[in-house]
Amino acid sequence: MALDATAFMTKIEQRVGFTEADKTMLKSQAKWSQEIASEMADHFYTYLGRDAEMATILKAKEGRMHHLHQTFIQWFQEMFTGMDDWRTAYAERRWRIGLVHVQIGIGPQHVVPAMAAVVQEVGKRVIADGKPEELREALSRICMIDLAFIEQAYVEVSAAAVLKETGWTEGLFKRLVTRGVGTL
Ligand code: HEM
Repeated sequence: MALDATAFMTKIEQRVGFTEADKTMLKSQAKWSQEIASEMADHFYTYLGRDAEMATILKAKEGRMHHLHQTFIQWFQEMFTGMDDWRTAYAERRWRIGLVHVQIGIGPQHVVPAMAAVVQEVGKRVIADGKPEELREALSRICMIDLAFIEQAYVEVSAAAVLKETGWTEGLFKRLVTRGVGTL
């Protein structure tokens, strides 16, 4: 895809206000993230399973739930370690996660509430474990960055597919989209 994941990461970090202090806070709690990751994964997939549409997707493939439990744990911990200090490796990993969801047909209507559920659950745990409010804030911000990647993947893939199929220019496509709002 054409998206420069590292540049996108930098842009969204600024928009969200994800700071060096947030990174230091998250890194300082990396061990705690390991302790709670499995429980957070359980909450997450229980939440997804309550929705009939999402439950069907989760059960569509043998062993998918188990695999997802593992990938969630890894994803969760990466928010705290930052992988390569939240640079290229982190950005490309998040972009890849976005693409996987687009490929399966999981759109914004699924992902936005799901991320809200993560933010809410981990926020409750921050309070229950007596962790600082700054940790809850840092986590909310990094979750929003990760969410932006998944959402942007949806837009980029849809636009690229239309451009490829039709041969339209990006400018024409954008004009048609803008005008299309009036037809809804
Ligand atoms: C907070 C939002 C979400 C996060 C952070 C998340 C995280 C992940 C991660 C890390 C992967 C692995 C990607 C890879 O293989 O490289 C994944 C795959 C997947 N996710 Fe999500 N996910 C989210 C929302 C959802 C939702 C709403 C659904 C709806 C059912 C879903 C279903 C799936 C499925 C089916 C896969 C592919 C599993 C497979 O390999 O068969 N995810 N997700």
